[in-house]
Amino acid sequence: MKQFSVLFVCLGNICRSPAAEAIFLDLLSKKKIKDKFLVDSAGTGSWHIGKKADSRMRFAAKQRNLEILSKARQFQQDDFYKFNYILTMDNSNFEHIINLRPKSNDTNIANVLKMQEFSSKFEETEVPDPYFGGEDGFDYVLDILEDSVSGFLKDII
Ligand code: 4NP
Repeated sequence: MKQFSVLFVCLGNICRSPAAEAIFLDLLSKKKIKDKFLVDSAGTGSWHIGKKADSRMRFAAKQRNLEILSKARQFQQDDFYKFNYILTMDNSNFEHIINLRPKSNDTNIANVLKMQEFSSKFEETEVPDPYFGGEDGFDYVLDILEDSVSGFLKDII
């Protein structure tokens, strides 16, 4: 199997993208293919750099035996060259990343995609931002991501 590199991107890098990263890593571990992948997450914003994921998201993940270990970082221009795939959580993240993408025909530049393209069980076209909502929102985001992240893996391998 070839090597893959995947970057999950949201706004703050404390709720959705670290959850997607943890779900994806867990799936790769279960399939015993983790060594074939470089996986990371980042935010388009800079407010939470260096912080652990939101405690509400870590708690919701823990209920499913998932540990979210990543610390927030901001998206960097060289991420376009480090990763094969950049998966954005909502349309605003997608537009933001597309606007930053180098305007060249270089084939080494990451493929920028929307996470929800890979969902089969949910009608949502975006992964909703749970930050300003209630506890239920975090569980719902995890449900959505479990579906779309596994759809993405099936699509690429
Ligand atoms: P995320 O959620 O993009 O899923 O990490 C958010 C976290 C923080 C903020 C917005 C969204 N914020 O405005 O600080």
